[in-house]
Amino acid sequence: MDKIVIHGGKRLSGTIPVSGAKNAALTLLPCALLTEEPLTLRNLPRLADIDGFQHLMNQFGISTAIAGSRPEDFGRVMTLQATRITSTVAPYDLVRKMRASILVLGPMLARMGEATVSLPGGCAIGNRPIDLHLKALEALGAQIEMAAGYVKAIAPDGGLPGGRFSFPVVSVGATENALMAAVLCKGKSTLHNAAREPEIVDLCNLLTAMGARIEGIGTSDLTIHGVPRLHGATYMVMPDRIEAGSYACAAAITGGEVLLKGARIEDMEATVQALRDTGVLVEPREDGLYVAANGPLRPVTLSTAPFPGFATDMQAQLMALLCKAEGSSVLTETIFENRYMHVPELNRMSAHIETKGRTAVVHGVDTLTGAEVMATDLRASMSLVIAGLAAEGETQVHRLYHLDRGYERLEEKLALLGAQIERIGAD
Ligand code: EPZ
Repeated sequence: MDKIVIHGGKRLSGTIPVSGAKNAALTLLPCALLTEEPLTLRNLPRLADIDGFQHLMNQFGISTAIAGSRPEDFGRVMTLQATRITSTVAPYDLVRKMRASILVLGPMLARMGEATVSLPGGCAIGNRPIDLHLKALEALGAQIEMAAGYVKAIAPDGGLPGGRFSFPVVSVGATENALMAAVLCKGKSTLHNAAREPEIVDLCNLLTAMGARIEGIGTSDLTIHGVPRLHGATYMVMPDRIEAGSYACAAAITGGEVLLKGARIEDMEATVQALRDTGVLVEPREDGLYVAANGPLRPVTLSTAPFPGFATDMQAQLMALLCKAEGSSVLTETIFENRYMHVPELNRMSAHIETKGRTAVVHGVDTLTGAEVMATDLRASMSLVIAGLAAEGETQVHRLYHLDRGYERLEEKLALLGAQIERIGAD
C-alpha cells in the first residue's frame, strides 16, 4: 500500500497548474454515448476515477484513444467514439469501484432505449441513494425496473417523450442524468430546482456544442428541447474548483502563498469568501487565482450548501485550515450524513475538534503534531495532507487510493511549492 510522508513546517510558495475538474470529467465522458461521432475531451485529469470510467466505456464497445501527452504533462486528451454499442449493462464489479458509473444510465437510455446499471450502493460519506435519478427519468417517460441489485431503465417504443420534473432535493448527479436523457427526447423537458454547480454548466456547454438545445444554463430551471441526434465535439474540461480550493488551504495553513494557474474565481466564490473571512488574501489574476496567508487565521462559522453555497467537497479541507485559527469555528455539513471521518484523524494530530451530529466545532490550536493517519475518503485524505504540511514533525498518510481518485500527481504539485513530501510505494 502506498503512503505519503510529509515533513511539516515548510512555508509553501510558488505556482501550480490546476487540473481539469474530476466532477466535470465524470459527467462529460458518458456524453460520448449520445452520438456515433467522435467526442474529444481535452484537459482530462490523470485520475484513477477517469481510468475507471474509460474502462467502463470500453465495456460498452466504445473506443477510447489517449492522444500523445508527455509523462511530465498534466492532463490528457481522450477521444471516445460510440459507433456501435455492444452492451447496455454497467456491471457490478465496475460500478462498485466507482459510483459515478450511475451517470451512464441517462445517456445510455437516451441512445439505446434501455440501460441496466448495478445499483452503486453507499459509500463512506453516506448511503447516497439514487431515487432522484430514477424519479427524474420516470418523469421523462422511462419505465424503471429493479432486480438482483440492478436498475433497468426502458424507453417506451424506443424513445423518451420528455416531461417535467421538480427536484425535492438538489442533486448534482440526478440533474446530470436527467439532462443527458432529455437532450434526445422526442419533445420538451423542464427541470426545476436543478443543481447549478459549475460542473452542470460544463455539461450543458458540452451538450450544446454537440447540438443540444438547452435554455436556462446556470440556473435551477432548465428547459431542454429534444433533438433527433447529436454530433461529435471537441471540448476542454473546466478547471477543478475543489482542487484549487484544496491547494489554497494548503498554502495558507503554512503561512505561504500560491498562484493557482487556471483557477476561475467565478466557480468558487463561496470558497474564496470563506478564505477571506479567515483572513487569507485571495486575488484574481489574469492567469488564475493568487492566494496568500496574511496574518493570523480567524475562525469562521458556515454551513455547506448546494452551489453557489459553500461546497461540501471543501468542508474537510477548510476544517484542516481552521485547526490553526485563533478561536473556535463552527461548521455544519448539510449535504451528507457522515462527512466528518477526518475529525478523529485530525484530533490525533493534536487538533481539537468536537462533532455533534452535522455540526463540528473546531477549536484552533497553536501546534499540530505529525502522526501516522489513515485516509477514509477522498476529501478527508486531502484534509490530512493539509494538516500534515503545517504539523511539527513527520506525518504519514495511508490508504492513498482515496487521494488518487481526485488529486492529479499531488505530491509533485506540492513539491513545486517547496513541500517536503514523498510517496513511498509498498516494498
Ligand atoms: C456529486 O455527487 C459529486 N460527485 C460529489 O463529489 C459532491 O459531494 C456532490 O455532488 C455534492 O456536490 C460527482 O460529481 C462525481 P448529490 P452526487 O446527488 O451527485 C442526496 C467528491 O468528493 N440524494 O448532489 O452523488 C444525497 O444523499 C464527491 O468529489 C438523494 O437523496 O451528489 C446527498 O445527501 C463526493 N437521492 C444530496 O442528495 C438521489 O437520488 C446531494 O447529493 C441523489 C442524491
